[in-house]
Amino acid sequence: MVERNCREVKVREVRFLGTWDEPSDFVELTVENPGWESYKPGQFAMLRAKHWGLELPWGRPFSISRVDAESVTFFIQVVGRGTTRLARLRPEDVVIIWGPLGNGFSAPTKTPTLLLAGGMGIAPFRGYIENHPSPEFLHLLFAHRPSLDHYPFLAMSEKVRAEAIQERSSDDLPDIIARIEASMDEHADGLVLACGPTPFLRTVQAHALKKSIRAEISLEKTMACGVGACLGCVCKDGQGKHVQVCARGPVFAAADVQI
Ligand SMILES: Cc1cc2nc3c(=O)[nH]c(=O)nc-3n(C[C@H](O)[C@H](O)[C@H](O)COP(=O)(O)OP(=O)(O)OC[C@H]3O[C@@H](n4cnc5c(N)ncnc54)[C@H](O)[C@@H]3O)c2cc1C
Ligand code: FES
Repeated sequence: MVERNCREVKVREVRFLGTWDEPSDFVELTVENPGWESYKPGQFAMLRAKHWGLELPWGRPFSISRVDAESVTFFIQVVGRGTTRLARLRPEDVVIIWGPLGNGFSAPTKTPTLLLAGGMGIAPFRGYIENHPSPEFLHLLFAHRPSLDHYPFLAMSEKVRAEAIQERSSDDLPDIIARIEASMDEHADGLVLACGPTPFLRTVQAHALKKSIRAEISLEKTMACGVGACLGCVCKDGQGKHVQVCARGPVFAAADVQI
């Protein structure tokens, strides 16, 4: 299974987002499609450049942002050693890609669905919107810190009702939380999908449980193998039992995981 899903592909483009005034540590990395005929938005892939040495033996996990017949795109924030090296790749460099991995988000066709994205958590929703047969049922609420130029938000907002709310300082947080909760209440009979930093997910999970709203959250954990073999990504499920995020997730029903 691991070998079947593991391919070498060439980089097609590395594009830095952001503006002259506000240089960016956000990168769109596009590689050749390794032969994927389908994937489920919310799934992820492990990436490792072929030329990396022993100092970086493991790939890094990234949500699959979009897929077409020729290419696969990831939206990456530079935070450390691996992401710095991925951002320095050039067209024709070779990348080892394992995927698609994990389970992905539910995608009911006619259910009002709220997509809650925090920062980099916007990545999987690009493909979710592009692949959804009834985008008129989707509402994207995006909470972000750097300006919208750093994100693929505008392209995404063409197809769905979309709102963005910027956190300029921690004083903005109560308003942002209130807006998230109000939007979730609007979707109390529908579905809420969330991806973003852990405090953002905790807010979504707590409100979903309090109001019995059907919600799914995508967890980020440090991963090494990505396929359930190393126990590097363990968290606890709703009953307190240890589960691997890569194999059982990364998407969990809000009641089924402790974060
Ligand atoms: C399922 C999944 C999907 C993800 N999708 C995206 C995405 O679409 N875009 C994106 O930019 N990032 C995504 N991440 C996070 C990304 O994997 C990490 O930022 C990346 O592995 C950091 O690698 P590094 O070598 O640059 O950092 P390191 O040098 O290893 O560490 C730098 C910092 O990042 C933290 N870190 C390391 N690995 C992770 C991790 N897996 N999750 C969270 N923090 C980590 C470390 O604790 C440290 O603080 C995702 C993670 C998971 C598990
Ligand atoms: S990353 Fe190895 S078990 Fe999940």
